[in-house]
Amino acid sequence: MDNPDNSFEAKLQDAIANPQNMGEMPDADSIGTVGSADCGDMLRMFLKFTEKDGKKVIDRASFQSFGCQTAIAIASMATEMLKGKSVADAQKLSAEEMTTELGPLPPVKIHCGQMVEGALRSALSEEENTKDGNAVDRNTLAGSMANPQSAGGKIKINITQPENTP
Ligand code: FES
Repeated sequence: MDNPDNSFEAKLQDAIANPQNMGEMPDADSIGTVGSADCGDMLRMFLKFTEKDGKKVIDRASFQSFGCQTAIAIASMATEMLKGKSVADAQKLSAEEMTTELGPLPPVKIHCGQMVEGALRSALSEEENTKDGNAVDRNTLAGSMANPQSAGGKIKINITQPENTP
């Protein structure tokens, strides 16, 4: 971050100027989708695993978002952080850790971080669910938004603070 302005807005603008790992991952091993009931935003996270020193680790992560800029910035940072992490370490990653670079989120934006955390948790639990050869949900994010049942009931709705709370 090279913006001399240290405000949340300035850090956010820096982060979304060049978001990392944005886009669908056709060969993902696991996909997690979460929607926010209050703002209607939605985020999907894709994970690809690899073996390293006999351990299963995240090779790469990407995301798709019909969401606000804050969610995009956090998902960009989170997907960078996830590279090389074991599943156990990824499970411990909290929304607060994902947003460290942005600094404390304004109260109305806290749910944006929770949505990214939720998508990660969902992708990690899908990884658990698909261990026995069950199929990964590969519906498009737009399709899932239009018909949440198409995501195999895997869309989780976060109960969040309304965007227009004073
Ligand atoms: Fe709802 Fe950011 S995800 S405003």
